[in-house]
Amino acid sequence: MSIHIGAKPGEIAETVLMPGDPLRAKWAAETFLDDPVCINEVRGMLGFTGTWKGRRVTIQGSGMGMPSLSIYANELIRDYGAKTLIRIGSCGAMQESVALRDIVIGMACTAMSTPSLGFFKELSFAPCADYGLLRAAADAAAARGTPTHVGNIYSADVFYDERPDLNEQMTRHGVLAVEMEAAELYTVAARFGCRALAILTVSDHLLRGEALPSADRQTSFGDMVEIALEAAFS
Ligand code: HPA
Repeated sequence: MSIHIGAKPGEIAETVLMPGDPLRAKWAAETFLDDPVCINEVRGMLGFTGTWKGRRVTIQGSGMGMPSLSIYANELIRDYGAKTLIRIGSCGAMQESVALRDIVIGMACTAMSTPSLGFFKELSFAPCADYGLLRAAADAAAARGTPTHVGNIYSADVFYDERPDLNEQMTRHGVLAVEMEAAELYTVAARFGCRALAILTVSDHLLRGEALPSADRQTSFGDMVEIALEAAFS
């Protein structure tokens, strides 16, 4: 057991998929994994380990926002030996060329701050994805015919933003979409020599004011799980 994860030693796989929502972790494990076993219920942040095509996989909720994700990523790596961590989540599009249901793969992250900011002090660290995972996920998405965009994403600290001017700057600078976890995932993975990637479905559009109906979210989420699994084991 670690402080926030109740799994016993050996119950977590080296490959971990991390949705923000713990109920999505349950759904994904029950839908895509063989013999899923619940390995964490602490704080309701459900985690499951099973197999996909014979390979061991854990799907562990991260919660919302970088401080929450940081706790789970640190413990998965430091206490359980996770080596590959893939966030699967939703994002808000910041470009006209990106549409609802499209997939966005975060090559790099822009952030105002991350929980790691205090370590870096004056250094402006650039959180970036593992290139092998990135390339494999882009290939897997292309093979499915899912419209996919690869580039810079914004990892925000607030969902209810009071700075529309910052969003305008990011749109001007080609940032594809906003979410709330990837920058810290990439940073923690870099610190411990692990591979990380964020694969996101566009659930809302900041420029068009559109949002995906909740029934469609499950389908898009399933696509992401399969792309993440294919990328992890390619
Ligand atoms: N902001 C931050 N995170 C998000 C959004 C958003 O608009 N949509 C999905 N995740």
